[in-house]
Amino acid sequence: MTVINAKVGSGKYPVLVSDNSINELIDFCDGYSQENVVCIVDEFFKENDNSLYNELNIFLAKYKCLYLPGGLQSKGLEAYSLAMKWLLDIKLPRDGVIVAIGGGVIGDLSAFVASTYMRGTGLVLVPTTTTSMIDSAIGGKTGINFQDQVNAIGTYYNPKAVFMDVRFLLTLNTRDYFAGICEAIKMSVTSDAAQAKKLLNNSTLLASNNREIASLVDLVIWSTKIKLFHVGDDPNEKGIRLTLNYGHTFGQSIETFYGLYQDHYRHGEAVALGMICAASAINSINQSSLSSDLLDFTKKILKQYNLPVLISDQPDCLFPSVEVLVNNLINDKKRTSQGNRFVLVPSIGTSIIQYIDNKKVIASSFQSIMP
Ligand SMILES: NC(=O)c1ccc[n+]([C@@H]2O[C@H](COP(=O)([O-])OP(=O)(O)OC[C@H]3O[C@@H](n4cnc5c(N)ncnc54)[C@H](O)[C@@H]3O)[C@@H](O)[C@H]2O)c1
Repeated sequence: MTVINAKVGSGKYPVLVSDNSINELIDFCDGYSQENVVCIVDEFFKENDNSLYNELNIFLAKYKCLYLPGGLQSKGLEAYSLAMKWLLDIKLPRDGVIVAIGGGVIGDLSAFVASTYMRGTGLVLVPTTTTSMIDSAIGGKTGINFQDQVNAIGTYYNPKAVFMDVRFLLTLNTRDYFAGICEAIKMSVTSDAAQAKKLLNNSTLLASNNREIASLVDLVIWSTKIKLFHVGDDPNEKGIRLTLNYGHTFGQSIETFYGLYQDHYRHGEAVALGMICAASAINSINQSSLSSDLLDFTKKILKQYNLPVLISDQPDCLFPSVEVLVNNLINDKKRTSQGNRFVLVPSIGTSIIQYIDNKKVIASSFQSIMP
């Protein structure tokens, strides 16, 4: 069991990572009276008789639970309102605690609910997907989508504790599994060259048909620490936290084309293509052996983790032209008079923030993901 002491803004809380953290969750909740603990749980765990989840099911039987489906349908006002009504009906006291068990959707929704119910009640996060363990459970962002905008309504709110049990990752489908791992690849490329190399060399251990427990624990511990390094002193995204947006500005143009529904492109998959575009951008702005190494490395590692390197890599879906992607980027609401803001990687493990207003550079970056 590894305990990482998170400090995000003024908040401090433990993040427990292991292959049996459910037991620690049980002990933690035993510290509350039974009626003060409620759970919001991904429906996946309701009818799942996988023996992996025996302890979880015993835990859930003890508390009042609201089951909601994972995925987009639970990331909106309807699910928010349903959860709020449920909490008021069962009269969760203000000093109670909401335990969120699920992926990024259940985590973001429950955290937003916890931050607004009675002006804030206790929150415990139990992330169950790679995206939620590697990314969303750390950093305090909560939110729901509104009017076709991702996380248009949200708050910053810290949990009391996070319990990461990597055994959850064993039942996740291959596509979601790799889309989440992309966030770890991204952080390694901007901030830790040794980890980037390790991820490349360990791809067999983390392969979908292997998912070696010790390697998963290792990856989640590293991801938690590096994400905390970026968000700890910058909870509101004014400085170093921006590094986490590597691949996002280009990736967002792709996501804008496909809309909120992530069947065509998961967020992590769009970030993968965004990383290729960003590597290509620095290669055309500042060509050097380091920038061409980055482009080669990015393609190689993404392929090893089943992630797309060309926009046509996702079967059965239409894809946008370079022109459409450039227009989406130019119309991005975050664009300033200096151009769009990009995180760029001069050499693997380092990053800079740079504005680019040169349409030709942006177009040739998008060209690099065209078949
Ligand atoms: N708050 C943040 O900082 C932050 C960061 C990144 C992403 N996000 C948000 O995270 C969400 C995406 O998260 P996600 O990819 O985890 O999606 P998700 O929560 O929808 O989970 C993906 C799928 O996996 C299923 N699932 C969950 N746990 C499982 C398990 N252990 N085994 C098998 N299936 C399981 C879910 O039911 C769902 O179908 C988006 O809404 C995104 O906006 C938030």
